[in-house]
Amino acid sequence: MNILSIIEKKRDKKELTNQEIEYFIQNYTNGKIKDYQAAALIMAIYINGMTDEETTNLTLAMAHSGEILDLSSFNKIIVDKHSTGGVGDKVSLILLPLIASIGIPVAKMSGRGLGFTGGTVDKLESIPNYKVDLSLHKFEQNVEKIGISMISQTLNLAPADKKIYSLRDSISCVGSIPLIASSIMSKKIASGAQKIVLDVTVGKGAFMQNIENARNLANKMISIGKLANKETICILTNMDEPLGYSVGNTLEVIEAIQFLKANDMPEDLKEVVLELGAYMIKLANKGDNIEENKEKLLEKIQNKKAYEKFVELVKNQEGDISYIENPEKFEKAKYIEPIYSNKKGYIYEINAKEIGKLACYLGAGRISKEDKIDNRVGIILNKKVGDKVSENEVLAYIHASNIEKLEYVKKELLEIIKISENFTSKNKAIIEIIT
Ligand code: URA
Repeated sequence: MNILSIIEKKRDKKELTNQEIEYFIQNYTNGKIKDYQAAALIMAIYINGMTDEETTNLTLAMAHSGEILDLSSFNKIIVDKHSTGGVGDKVSLILLPLIASIGIPVAKMSGRGLGFTGGTVDKLESIPNYKVDLSLHKFEQNVEKIGISMISQTLNLAPADKKIYSLRDSISCVGSIPLIASSIMSKKIASGAQKIVLDVTVGKGAFMQNIENARNLANKMISIGKLANKETICILTNMDEPLGYSVGNTLEVIEAIQFLKANDMPEDLKEVVLELGAYMIKLANKGDNIEENKEKLLEKIQNKKAYEKFVELVKNQEGDISYIENPEKFEKAKYIEPIYSNKKGYIYEINAKEIGKLACYLGAGRISKEDKIDNRVGIILNKKVGDKVSENEVLAYIHASNIEKLEYVKKELLEIIKISENFTSKNKAIIEIIT
């Protein structure tokens, strides 16, 4: 067997055997297969797809490319959460301390930004000194000690996904159902949680642009979960416009802090956090009634227990909590400028993908693997879809480090934030639950 024959087979739309998939995963992980060969195969998979059997085999091969974490010693059900990606998606930063404050252990391995979407690890790293790379021992110790740890994919867990994930990002091969399903489920299988809640984003700023594809992806991940004996629930959420108001690493951390302090909960973000959280509680066998579970979550926000857990998490991972206690301390971008509407009416579209691309252009994301992120930059919306706007009202604030980029984004944003004379209703945050 060799990689060329495997590439040829997929290029010619033929089905790969389990042996061929395992051969590729093992030899790409250990470096014998080169990036350019893997890129060719990934592109062929992106274009020609995979059968359910191939996707399952790919997932299992990726999950077993490294260690499989055993969290059974906690003697509690561990429920993991993952999102298929979005713009302004700071849900993990809010939801996971919230869940831990209820007494459900959280052992979370997060990813970096992918394509035009942001990543939780990049956001966590914008907190000065926060360590995302921990040893397995320390990771487990943290979960034992304070009930939560949030790290990057640094342990030897699903190393094949780590390589393929950044390769896909650099060759524009992210939005593929078999590749997303295998990427997410291999990590979830390797990271030892017994149950999984998945946020499957749908819309202009998601990899799944329509409900049909999102359902298809959700069902694939649920059936892989069944096979691995991990009950999986998918919640389809709207990603036509950015979630919440802020896009950009530090800006999103600040929005998460304000949310957890209960002084500012954007409606769409609140709905997504509560829905995912309520199902996590249900899967942890801590309450079957979804509405009651949402009340429990709200209580933990209102009595600041979730915020305190977030501070504890940051402190325990060596982050400087003075930034959390006083977000004014975060370094700001050199230029912070408002843009104003040139007419009155109702906002009817804020294309999340376009906003994500602009945030990337400002420096909040990577174009190539080696790019360094500028944590300070991004966009803070002042309006959401369905909001009324008058002439000369602020539509958004741009946080930029460079004057040319600022000017470009100013012009573009006025095109992206679309205003109509007709009344437009707000987007529904939760689309569908698939079990
Ligand atoms: N999140 C992942 O972990 N993998 C993907 O492919 C997309 C989103």
